[in-house]
Amino acid sequence: MASKTTASGEAGAGGQSPAESEVPVSKLFDEAEIARRVAALVPEISKAIPGDFVIVGLLKGAFVFVADLVRALHAAGRHPRIEFITLSSYGHGRESSGQVRLTGELPAELAGRDILLVDDVADTGRSLSHARELLRERGAARIWICALVDKPSRRQVQLSADFVGFTVGDRFVVGYGIDYAERYRHLPYIGALD
Ligand code: IMP
Ligand code: MG
Repeated sequence: MASKTTASGEAGAGGQSPAESEVPVSKLFDEAEIARRVAALVPEISKAIPGDFVIVGLLKGAFVFVADLVRALHAAGRHPRIEFITLSSYGHGRESSGQVRLTGELPAELAGRDILLVDDVADTGRSLSHARELLRERGAARIWICALVDKPSRRQVQLSADFVGFTVGDRFVVGYGIDYAERYRHLPYIGALD
């Protein structure tokens, strides 16, 4: 579907300059499509991870996705523990700084656990790769990776997601938790800034 809307009113409230609030958002995946993809991921995940597991979401971008995913998993009788960690890499631009670091603590008691690591976007792959390494160092048993949006053409490090919501080309996506300079996270759909 291809509808274009400016972010003003939807994402642009709060005193931004007119230029900033008029960045057009091309809608890529609407609420119904996202709900269908989230529901479809549940049997894939359940099959691959049959036992008890921990979801580790990367903040802030994965917060909406994790919220929907865990409720869909619940409907299928799965009840993972839920944790979040925060990595920083992006400043307020669209390009990654290339440096990824953990801000704050890793959750306790991950040793020996099966973990589903969840992020909003797999872009260069550095964030998920770094998070996976941290979890390995913590003694995680097995680690699977789930990315809501995968951009394989942008990869800079070896990283393949086990579960993917949507695959896109070299687009800068926003909405459904995903931001540009801390804006657009609230949008119920996923769009692209062009
Ligand atoms: P990576 O480390 O380069 O794979 O980037 C992953 C992180 O960068 C994600 O967690 C996002 O926060 C951010 N990011 C990458 N691509 C996009 C995008 O298209 N829109 C918004 N954030 C993005
Ligand atoms: Mg992120």
